[in-house]
Amino acid sequence: MIDRDTTVLGDENPMGSNPTQGPTLNDLIASQLDRRTVLGGALGFAAVQFLAGSAITRKASALSSFGASGGTPTLTFAEVPPSSADTFVVPQGYVAKVIIPWGTPILAGAPNFQEDASNTAADQEKQVGFNHDGMHFFRFPSNPNRRGLMVLNHEYTDATQIYTAAQGTTITNDAAGREKVAKALAGHGVTVVELRRDAQGSWKHLQGSPFNRRITGNTPVVFSGPVSASHPLLQSTVTPQPLGTLNNCGNGYTPWGTYITAEENFNGYFGANGAFTATPLQARYGLSASGFGYGWHLAEPRFDLNANPNEPNRFGWLVEIDPFNPQAAPIKRTALGRFKHEGCAVTVSSGVACVYSGDDENGDYLYKFVSDAPWQQMIANGQSPLDFGKLYVAKFNANGTGEWLLLEHGTGPLTVANGWADQADVLIRTRQAGDAVGATRCHRPEWVTENAATQDVYVTFTNGTGNGSAVNSNRDPNPYGHIVRLRETGGDHRLTTFDWSIFLLAGDNQYDPLVPATQPLFGSPDGLWSDPAGRLWIQTDISNSSQNRQDRGYDRIANNAMLVANPVTGEFKRFLTGPRGCEITGVTMSPDMRTIFVNVQHPGESTNFWNGQFGAPSVTNPSSVSSWPFGGRPRPATVAIQRIDGGEIGT
Ligand code: FEO
Ligand code: CA
Ligand code: CA
Repeated sequence: MIDRDTTVLGDENPMGSNPTQGPTLNDLIASQLDRRTVLGGALGFAAVQFLAGSAITRKASALSSFGASGGTPTLTFAEVPPSSADTFVVPQGYVAKVIIPWGTPILAGAPNFQEDASNTAADQEKQVGFNHDGMHFFRFPSNPNRRGLMVLNHEYTDATQIYTAAQGTTITNDAAGREKVAKALAGHGVTVVELRRDAQGSWKHLQGSPFNRRITGNTPVVFSGPVSASHPLLQSTVTPQPLGTLNNCGNGYTPWGTYITAEENFNGYFGANGAFTATPLQARYGLSASGFGYGWHLAEPRFDLNANPNEPNRFGWLVEIDPFNPQAAPIKRTALGRFKHEGCAVTVSSGVACVYSGDDENGDYLYKFVSDAPWQQMIANGQSPLDFGKLYVAKFNANGTGEWLLLEHGTGPLTVANGWADQADVLIRTRQAGDAVGATRCHRPEWVTENAATQDVYVTFTNGTGNGSAVNSNRDPNPYGHIVRLRETGGDHRLTTFDWSIFLLAGDNQYDPLVPATQPLFGSPDGLWSDPAGRLWIQTDISNSSQNRQDRGYDRIANNAMLVANPVTGEFKRFLTGPRGCEITGVTMSPDMRTIFVNVQHPGESTNFWNGQFGAPSVTNPSSVSSWPFGGRPRPATVAIQRIDGGEIGT
């Protein structure tokens, strides 16, 4: 997701929606990450890069086990420098090809993309959606490196990009307004599209493949787990059948071959016609009279909090999709909790699926779901491993340890006497349940990934203000963010205690001396994926209000980028840079690791720095900030990156 920019999208509260004063660690841990230790201690690259935020000296032996002191280099490509150009830059010896940009016709008979944005909502239903985000490549077993299904999220739409000059951006309460909302809804959701690698080695989509599919804000969905579609808080007279998935940010994928799309800032689509006072539940999830300024409620009662107050409760879930079954409805897996899911990482310990997910809002929490039994056994019994299990929320202690606090009805404060009706109630109000048990407020936990070799879990904390604490890097404000590493006790994801540390501190040493001067410049880490070789791919999402700005300390960091770190060798390099006004998000590889796919989201979006030079993008001039990738209207797209010599990526 765009790092929400109050100057662009309206009323997002930079302090978050969490009113609790519960354990922020503010008072707990000044001793935990001693700033002087970072500044005055070992300034060697690896030692600083991979310092543990938790008790640096105490964990010296643990640090060495990460191999930070050396090892055979594995990242031999020539690092690319920061860039403020309107181009996509990869290392020398690599080639990047744009595939499946927004508007690509994928269903049989779908119309071509129209450069003037005159494609209708009906057209958009058959074309690749807007603002590509999390994605995963599902191989065909018969030809795994030449044929696969790419499944990708479309997080949100930009009104200045998807409407014609004649349409404008205003949503009116008439047929024209409803058509515009319908086009936006069709631009959201998920694309499933078959890709094939041709004889020249290039990846091409196959229009009309029977697997191709669009899931949008209007696709019928089903609910599974403790919260059923018949729950009173999910009833709607406006849309009796639950429809759609929205604000599809990061993703996960399961060992049983399914895709998970995460619903993040769903609150932004709702508004209120007439007087509106948020309930405690609505307030905790950031619902407000004007939302993020989309104005959908002006034309569609579905998004009017007064006319349809329960509709928001149908969003904020993790949604499972079977990419190889185009007829199967997306399933909202309610046992995993309801919050602003950034994405998720499905890990396995002793056969049991354990799912990590961050709630990306300043001051919100990190969660983990532990399935009840080994996933193969559950599937054999006709159960989903994602429907039965326990949900936990993270508490980060001062001494570098942590614990997972159970969110189970009848346990601790989550009782009938305290107003919790049942587990469904706990799950619909997951954020309040986290408040009640005393979870630790975080600086916007985004993607999570597991290093399969070490079982370590990494989480991006993209940035934040307030809640100064060690797990939040002891920086307040923390405009650059950092990456936290968790090590579950014994490496067993089912257990409820862990150690944590700060793996990387983002920023620019010129503005923040805590940041190692020797590491690549980067800020606001967001997308994160540990590849099969254990290398950590780090994608950045600097907000449009800060990108490229000297007065925000982001001029030298420049455009958003993707970097790669090897936790074993201590190597850390910038791998690519994106065009102006974009974020880089979503990453997956072909099984042979010879193609890496990434997404360029919102190229050319309204960006404070570039607006000042070229004017803000508008329906009459959508290309003022960027004309990537084809020299005209900017289009979110996937990029397939390969080595010219056909070798493995990164080596
Ligand atoms: Fe959708 Fe938190 O990025
Ligand atoms: Ca994101
Ligand atoms: Ca982000």
